[in-house]
Amino acid sequence: MALITTTEMFAKALNSDYAIGAFNVNNMEIIQGIAEAAQAENAPIILQVSAGARKYAKPAYLRKLVEAALEDSGIDAALHLDHGEDFEICKSCVDDGFTSVMYDGSKHPFEENIKITKQVVEYAHDHGVVVEAELGRLAGVEDAVNVNAREATFTDPDEAVEFVERTGVDSLAIAIGTSHGAYKFKGTPYLDFERLKKIHALLPNTPLVLHGASSVPQDFVELCNKYGGNVPGAQGVPEEMLSEAAKHGVCKINVDTDLRLAMTVEIRRVLTETPDVFDPRKYLGPGREAIKKMVQHKIRDVMKTSGK
Ligand code: G3H
Ligand code: 13P
Ligand code: ZN
Repeated sequence: MALITTTEMFAKALNSDYAIGAFNVNNMEIIQGIAEAAQAENAPIILQVSAGARKYAKPAYLRKLVEAALEDSGIDAALHLDHGEDFEICKSCVDDGFTSVMYDGSKHPFEENIKITKQVVEYAHDHGVVVEAELGRLAGVEDAVNVNAREATFTDPDEAVEFVERTGVDSLAIAIGTSHGAYKFKGTPYLDFERLKKIHALLPNTPLVLHGASSVPQDFVELCNKYGGNVPGAQGVPEEMLSEAAKHGVCKINVDTDLRLAMTVEIRRVLTETPDVFDPRKYLGPGREAIKKMVQHKIRDVMKTSGK
């Protein structure tokens, strides 16, 4: 029924074998689908909003839609800013009632990342809001197969310790081989579990976060393309790798692409099979159901948070 921070959910997830699903929201049907899935599974959940989503739906709509979803479903959830690129957007979301913000300074040099993360932490903590930051850069497809590129882009364990100590950040997004979007690996999927275990051993009390964690199910890609889509490639993160990561300090797993895919496949199917449809409710409704089904699957089979 209420917006909550991630503090308690992460404390429970940290030494468990599950992670909290963080799902990106952009409109009413997506918010409803996710909230209904969390309600059905009785699972903790994070609703996250990118700068692009805020621009698309407008901040007031998103906030009110999330409030309505909590009221309707009776669930608690964290409302999180995804990939805040500067202090201003983090401040704006704190002022807007978000319970968690991410400052993503991963593209900046180490000292610059620390400096701005610290500013965000100071402001957010003064307002009872928690902060996620990122160290290391998510791999491009080439980076994950090239050892030198891995060393250059993946999170350095010792730097992670220094970063957390100096910033006071609440959780840390790390780069171990995942990447955003629908095409993540060339050849065999690879996550650097040795690096993850080392980071977790050095930072046993810091909840770790995996971005770019969609699995991009091949059958969804094929269906989407069957109904006239043109989704390039596939190659997401195998779901069992995510469940494994949850056993080694990963407390938050971000999924957006798989929701986009699920909703788009269903809308394309309805419009292809019933070309006379022109009532948006006739395709957005099934789109919402597809979101719910995908999120329930993630909660139950990947995050393992049903009933938690
Ligand atoms: O990691 C990024 C999320 O998938 C959000 O994407 O910036 O297109 O809303 P977006
Ligand atoms: P995907 O593109 O793999 O869904 O990642 C989403 C994400 O990391 C949002 O921050
Ligand atoms: Zn991300």
